[in-house]
Amino acid sequence: MNKDNLTVAVVGATGAVGREILSMFSERRFPAANLKLFASPRSEGAEIKFEGGRASVLSLAPGCFEGVDIAIFSAGAGRSREYAPQAAREGAVVIDNSSAFRMDGDVPLVIPEINGGLLDEIPPGRIFANPNCTTAIIAMALKPIHDEGVVKNVVATSFQSVSGAGAGGMAELEQQLRDWPSPARPEVFPARILLNVIPQIDVFLDNNYTKEEMKIHNEARKILAADINVSATAVRVPVMRAHSISATVETEKPVSPEMAADAIRAFPGVQIVDDPYPMPIDCSGRDDCFVGRIRRDLTGENRICFWVVGDQLRKGAALNSVQMAEWIIRRHG
Ligand code: A2P
Repeated sequence: MNKDNLTVAVVGATGAVGREILSMFSERRFPAANLKLFASPRSEGAEIKFEGGRASVLSLAPGCFEGVDIAIFSAGAGRSREYAPQAAREGAVVIDNSSAFRMDGDVPLVIPEINGGLLDEIPPGRIFANPNCTTAIIAMALKPIHDEGVVKNVVATSFQSVSGAGAGGMAELEQQLRDWPSPARPEVFPARILLNVIPQIDVFLDNNYTKEEMKIHNEARKILAADINVSATAVRVPVMRAHSISATVETEKPVSPEMAADAIRAFPGVQIVDDPYPMPIDCSGRDDCFVGRIRRDLTGENRICFWVVGDQLRKGAALNSVQMAEWIIRRHG
């Protein structure tokens, strides 16, 4: 990998996260000399314009990652399972935004501010995983509290925006806004999302949690490398962008709301908003995660409650991947 002549591929470049990655590249002056943009065969040849350039969309094919230094995948778990190992074989370091490899033992699951040191070594499979968007946002608030008092249990409810379901999710809410009050025909979501909330994200599992809820539990344990239980309820809300999470955290050692706020203030990438509290409308398009409403929980010892909001297209996906790529370039370029 030569940092002065980097070739970077974005798989899923036409999607909600892919487009955000391209805008992060120009915002952060990402040092890619060549960009290869991939999407489905439907988009082949389409031109994507981004600040600082334009490129034609390519289709995935054998050999398409030859000469690619870093490949960022954001085209769903199916595509990642099929093509990420190929990209790695053809020599790229893969940063995968999907759930395909996150829980694999030999695939590091990384939030640079929390466990970025894992990027110092390229694993044998050459694949790094980017966490689930809700997990990334709550983990940014949990880590400083964990360092202070060792988090044991978390009860969390997420309020997840429609862009978490990709470009199609945003299009569905926009269509329902235009059509209102005509009846809606939901396709992306299991029910009408306009003027509604839906307590289901992804499919139900045998334990009556959804796949999304179990991702938060499993991935938080892996990222924080701790014996933490997270009982989550993931809810889709008619918000365009940025996820919010209400959480109650039980720690091994007492952590007062003031101690938690100080620890969060001192942690990179996360801020306290107490005038009056963070809301998705204010956090959209922002890099940091924002914590507010920190208070002592009334139901037991060593428990505090907080509210955290983050733009899931940024810290939950594109920003985190680009930060990972920047770290890899710094260490290995
Ligand atoms: P396309 O726009 O051609 O369908 P989102 O999460 O916003 O729905 O975006 C999904 C991304 O994954 C899009 O860029 C989409 O491209 C891409 N994608 C979907 N199917 C494939 C495929 N078979 N090969 C490559 N990219 C795909």
